[in-house]
Amino acid sequence: MNNSILAIETSCDDTSASVISNGIIKSNIVSSQIDHSKLGGVVPEIASRAHQKNIIYIVERALDEAGINKKTLDAIAFTIGPGLLGSLLVGSTFSKSLGYALNIPIIGVNHLKAHAFSHTINMKKIIYPFISLLVSGGHTQIILVETYDKMTIIGETRDDAVGEAFDKCAKILGLDYPGGPLIDKLSIEGNSNSYSFPDTKVDGYDYSFSGIKTSFLYFIKKELKKNPKFIEDNLKDICASIQSKLISMLILKLKKVINDYKVSDVSICGGVAANSYLRKEISKLSKSINIKIHIPEMEYCTDNAAMIANYAYYLYKDNSFSDFDIVPFSKQNIE
Ligand code: KG4
Ligand code: ZN
Repeated sequence: MNNSILAIETSCDDTSASVISNGIIKSNIVSSQIDHSKLGGVVPEIASRAHQKNIIYIVERALDEAGINKKTLDAIAFTIGPGLLGSLLVGSTFSKSLGYALNIPIIGVNHLKAHAFSHTINMKKIIYPFISLLVSGGHTQIILVETYDKMTIIGETRDDAVGEAFDKCAKILGLDYPGGPLIDKLSIEGNSNSYSFPDTKVDGYDYSFSGIKTSFLYFIKKELKKNPKFIEDNLKDICASIQSKLISMLILKLKKVINDYKVSDVSICGGVAANSYLRKEISKLSKSINIKIHIPEMEYCTDNAAMIANYAYYLYKDNSFSDFDIVPFSKQNIE
């Protein structure tokens, strides 16, 4: 028996489908709705319409690439939340209909839990407990993971997510959405010590990224008054400096948690885990304090259905299926 699951992810602006068989990813198709870059961010109504347009084609491609006939599927998994409600409704309604038509069980998957386990894709070994640093456009959380179903949020952002801070700073610089990858790319040739930004003090293990975004805005406005070509003349150095600040804020709290919780394993996941500077700094940290860092492969960092399929496989093995009257949640909690 092959235990094949089709998984569908439509929480934000990427329509994605994946097939997993016996714990191994057989396909992972992602269609990004690049139109949003011109609009400066994701427009929920446009995102849900695009999911409707893309979903059948993306699912067919995922099945084709995996060499699986839908009639041989054992379950359908889909993102149940959190995310944009209209987008989630497209994926969940499609999955329920297909599950009903094929007479197979459905599995609603929490998007955040799926991110937290994305480093385990393709049956990678897991050491419990581990700390997961979840850094995306919508979330910044430090999570203690004790089993696949027992997760506790230890720290989180009190305002903007770190990916959002990257995107907003990029917007201030006139860069397209999503700006995180662009800042990363431009920073490679920049000097991160060129400009400094004030520290934001937050108690405990929580983060705050809205203050740094505002300081960045005032800094750029002030410099533009002195030199209207300030951004053009110094773009790479500005990017490297703000990137280094955002990443050092992330690492500072993570270090504190690792020290206090005495874990040996840490996973970094979510879109910002694709950041090359974060990956470099985390690898330095791992050597200096002797911990094991797990980072998913690039294609599993940003939103993708393979991570939904991977987490669904844990639930499938436990016969943990969803009822057909399950409804999506925009703000579902990880705990
Ligand atoms: O996990 P994800 O694909 O979607 C959410 O669930 O939010 O994360 C998207 C976020 C965006 O804010 C994007 O700018 C950021 O991840 N991002 C990056 C990089 N790649 C994606 N931020 C910094 N450096 C990157 N290389
Ligand atoms: Zn995500």
